[in-house]
Amino acid sequence: MGPPGAGKGTQAERLKADLGLAHIATGDLLREELAAGTALGREAKRHMDAGDLVPDAVVIGMVRERLKGGAGNVLFDGFPRTVPQAEALDGLLVEIGAPVDAVLLLDVPRDELARRLGGRWLCRACGRSYHEVSAPYAGEPCRAAAGAACDLYQRDDDRPEAVANRLDVYDTQTAPLVGYYEAGGRMRRIDGQGTADEVYERIQAAIRAA
Ligand code: AP5
Repeated sequence: MGPPGAGKGTQAERLKADLGLAHIATGDLLREELAAGTALGREAKRHMDAGDLVPDAVVIGMVRERLKGGAGNVLFDGFPRTVPQAEALDGLLVEIGAPVDAVLLLDVPRDELARRLGGRWLCRACGRSYHEVSAPYAGEPCRAAAGAACDLYQRDDDRPEAVANRLDVYDTQTAPLVGYYEAGGRMRRIDGQGTADEVYERIQAAIRAA
């Protein structure tokens, strides 16, 4: 999904403010486990660095844990990524009595995805995302350390070989989800090209219409 854009809050913050949605991104949860040095994080790292998916059981268990006690209206980001994950999510949501209202598919050509990932830079401290071409860092102060500049780094899985593998993994393991959700009439296709703000507006409209 799109970046925050210079001078704006993160996408999660915008979704929370605009739509009252909690944002659960399994990639972020996995990176938090890694940063905390947990066994789950160490197990996930070798899959993530190569651009492979983390085993379904690990991801499903993590989401189940996150939903314990209820989470209100949620936007899942990067989850589910396989048909078994989608089936597990459906089961989980039946358990807590919360249906899937809509599934958003962001359509972006493969070469554009490679360009976006290969040019992404993140701040180690505040997590803000930049892009060397479309959203370059212009000396904005870090939001986690008053007065300091952002401390930028590239993710290991944004290296070209890992990016290529992630895109192949999408084709083989995640694309089958399109049929799964289209069959249930829950799929909404969104044009993911254009500026980040344009894409964000389309996402917001699709969620409001769901
Ligand atoms: P994950 O963290 O989900 O990686 P991802 O798919 O790359 O998603 P991100 O959230 O990192 O990127 P984004 O889509 O938010 O893009 P961004 O806005 O930064 O997953 C990482 C790994 O964790 C997986 O490979 C897997 O190993 C594991 N994992 C996670 N979930 C899993 C699951 N369910 N099952 C199994 N394993 C799982 O944008 C990217 C760049 O593009 C930025 O630089 C941005 O500035 C730029 N950009 C964005 N939009 C635009 C635009 N419209 N125009 C120009 N540039 C743009």
